[in-house]
Amino acid sequence: MHCKTVVDLPDELIAGKRVFLRVDYNVPVENGKVKEDYRIRSSIPTIEHLLARDARVIIASHMGRPRGERKEEYSLRLVADVLSEMIRSEVIFAEDVVGEPAHKAVEKLDGRRVVLLENLRFHPGEEKNDPEFAKALASLADIYVNDAFSTSHRAHASTFGVKDFFNVRVAGFSVERELRFLTQIRDDPDHPFAVIIGGAKIKDKLGAMLKLMEKADRFMVGGAISFTFFRAMGQDTGDNPVEEEHLEPVKEALGKYRDKIHLPEDFVVVDEKDESISYITSEVKAGTCVRDIGPVTVTKFISLMKGMRTIFWNGPMGKFEDERFNEGTAQIARFLALEWWRGAKTVVGGGDTIAALRKAEVLENEVTHISTGGGATLLYLSGEELPGLSILEKR
Ligand code: 3PG
Repeated sequence: MHCKTVVDLPDELIAGKRVFLRVDYNVPVENGKVKEDYRIRSSIPTIEHLLARDARVIIASHMGRPRGERKEEYSLRLVADVLSEMIRSEVIFAEDVVGEPAHKAVEKLDGRRVVLLENLRFHPGEEKNDPEFAKALASLADIYVNDAFSTSHRAHASTFGVKDFFNVRVAGFSVERELRFLTQIRDDPDHPFAVIIGGAKIKDKLGAMLKLMEKADRFMVGGAISFTFFRAMGQDTGDNPVEEEHLEPVKEALGKYRDKIHLPEDFVVVDEKDESISYITSEVKAGTCVRDIGPVTVTKFISLMKGMRTIFWNGPMGKFEDERFNEGTAQIARFLALEWWRGAKTVVGGGDTIAALRKAEVLENEVTHISTGGGATLLYLSGEELPGLSILEKR
C-alpha cells in the first residue's frame, strides 16, 4: 500500500475537522429499496474511524448515470435511511451537493451525526471534472478521503479534480483493503494460482486477462467470452457473439499461454425455435444459443481449482440470472467457497460475480476478499494507474 490512509492522520489533525469522504454508493435499487448494500457496508469502518476521532463527516457519492441532471430515481435520499441504520446515528441529507443546502447541512454537524450529500452526478461539472465544481465541493471540508475504489477509474471532479483544493488527501479502509488484495493478485500471488474469467464482453477484461495470464498457473475461460477464444482457434461458434476486434490479442495469448488456458468442453444450449434445452460439446452449431457451461466443463474447472493457493474469479459462466442456466456459475461459486475453507486465498471481483455468489448462497465470509469494483478492479489488475488513487498522498 503506497498511499497514505486515514490511519496515517494523527488524531489531533482529524479532531473537529470537516472530512469530505468520497464513497461509492452506486448500488442496485429495486422498487425504491436498496437491493445490494455491500458497497454501503464497506464504508462503515472508515466512517466509524473518523467519528471516533471527532471528525465532522461529509459523505459524497454518485448513483447511476443521470448525465448532469437532477433525476429523482437517482436520488441518494433512500441510501440515507440505510446508512443511518448501519451507523446507528442520524444522517443529515443535503438536497444538493454544493451551494447553500450543502453548507447548511454541514453547519448542523455535531456528535455522531454525518452529512450525506445528494448525487454528485446531478451536476454536469462532476463528470466533466470542472475545476469550479471541484472547488465548490472542496469548500465544504478540510480533509479529503477516498473510500470509493470502484469509482477510482473515473477522473471526475470528486475523484480527481479535488486534488487542487485539498492539501490532505488519503485513502479509507475499503480502498486500502482492495489495494492490498488486488495488488497481491496482480503482482505476487501465492502459487499455484488459478484464474477463472467469465462474463459477456472481452473488451472490458482483455487488459486484466493478459496481465493475469502471465502470473496464473491455470487460466479458465467460461461465459460468452470463450467464443472469442474458440473463434481465434479457428472453430465455428454458431450464432454466439464473437468480438472480432479482439481476435488478434486473443490469438497471441493462445500462442503464448495455450498450455495454461482451459476452455469449456460442453455447453447448455437453448434452441432458438422451440426454446428446448440440451447439452452439446463445445462444437457449437448455428441455430443454438449457448446459455451456460455444461457438466463436463464444471467437473473440469472444479478439478483445476483443487489445491490452488490463490484463486481469482471474475464474471459468471453463463446467463445465471435465469434459474435454468445458473448451475455452472453456482457450482464454481460453491467450490470456490470449499477451497477457501481448505485454506486457499480467494478473491472475487465484479458486480455480476457478487450477485452470482449470493444466488449460489455463498456467504461473504467464505471468500477472502470480494472487490467492490467492476471496471475499476479490471483496470487496476491490467496494471493501469487509477486517477482516483493517483491523487492520494504517498507514504
Ligand atoms: C461502478 O458501478 O462501476 C462505479 O460506481 C462506477 O460507475 P460508472 O461506470 O457509472 O462510472
